[in-house]
Amino acid sequence: MLVTGGAGYIGSVTTDLLIGRGDRVVVIDDLSRGKMENVHDDAVFVQADIGDRGVVEAIVDEYDPDAVIHFAGYIAVGESVRNPGSYLDRNVARSTMFLDSLIRHDVSNVVFSSSAAVYGQPKMVPIDENEDKQPTSPYGWTKWAFEQILGFYEVAHGTRHVALRYFNAAGASERRVERHDPETHLIPNILESASGGKTVSVFGTDYPTPDGTAIRDYVHVVDLADAHLRAVDYLVDGGASIAMNLGSGVGFSVMEVIETVRRVTAREVPVEYADRRAGDPPELVADPSLARRVLDWEANQSDLENIVRSSWEIRPA
Ligand code: UFG
Repeated sequence: MLVTGGAGYIGSVTTDLLIGRGDRVVVIDDLSRGKMENVHDDAVFVQADIGDRGVVEAIVDEYDPDAVIHFAGYIAVGESVRNPGSYLDRNVARSTMFLDSLIRHDVSNVVFSSSAAVYGQPKMVPIDENEDKQPTSPYGWTKWAFEQILGFYEVAHGTRHVALRYFNAAGASERRVERHDPETHLIPNILESASGGKTVSVFGTDYPTPDGTAIRDYVHVVDLADAHLRAVDYLVDGGASIAMNLGSGVGFSVMEVIETVRRVTAREVPVEYADRRAGDPPELVADPSLARRVLDWEANQSDLENIVRSSWEIRPA
């Protein structure tokens, strides 16, 4: 198995599970965002750019992986608005060069990290996979573009893929916790506040939701990782290309998440109310029934208290 971005948050947890079930894993990561300490000791690690054809082709030639899980990419919506070029470069151009390296060595099963960001502002919630794709950020656009590129490569070269559209990845495994720099995500920011750090800003209190704050579908990183193993097996067994939502199917508002952190940690969480963050839709909740049917996948660790508790217990001192 070849895993790009295996030093990142979801990629490292997935690598742990793959190794736990006995797969041989090669991780490619340039460590521009990921951290070496996240890479499982038993994985073969290559520090490289996914667009470096020489390196990628040498790896594929040597290890002959039966599938690839492509996590490597930039993930921040706001950063993509400020610097679209780097998102096009990383998430589309270099990812396409990576695909070219794969097809030259007949690697034809690709699991791809896509995002609920492909939908933009959905017309209907819960969102199913047929919802219009109208991304509202360069980030979302790159994910939707690469899904389509995978389709072109299937027609031209027979590459099959599973695109997994993550909703809000959250929580920690026994070994790995979410840590981005800078951290923009809600749950890590609230936990930092509960540890005695800064005040949490609540972005927007006038959304058309019951308490006025935005609603998201938080899905535990271990459930996400588990879906990748199932997606690999599905492709290796000959499954057809498909895109699937990965979410819990349940939405929580920003204030409900803050209340859950207060309850689980028994700590104070000071909040300040701020304006809406540009580009944030009011409500994103998955209809995860396709993944349930096709992969027999259940988000059974994604209870919000469990997500918060898992991250709180492993937090750095
Ligand atoms: N929020 C706050 N305060 C904060 C951080 C976030 O109020 O300090 C709010 C946001 O405005 C949003 C919600 O909490 O309404 C969740 O925000 P996150 O930044 O945690 O996550 P997003 O929903 O913006 O984005 C995440 C991923 C994207 C992905 C998207 C898909 O970061 O890559 O989920 O649902 F596209």
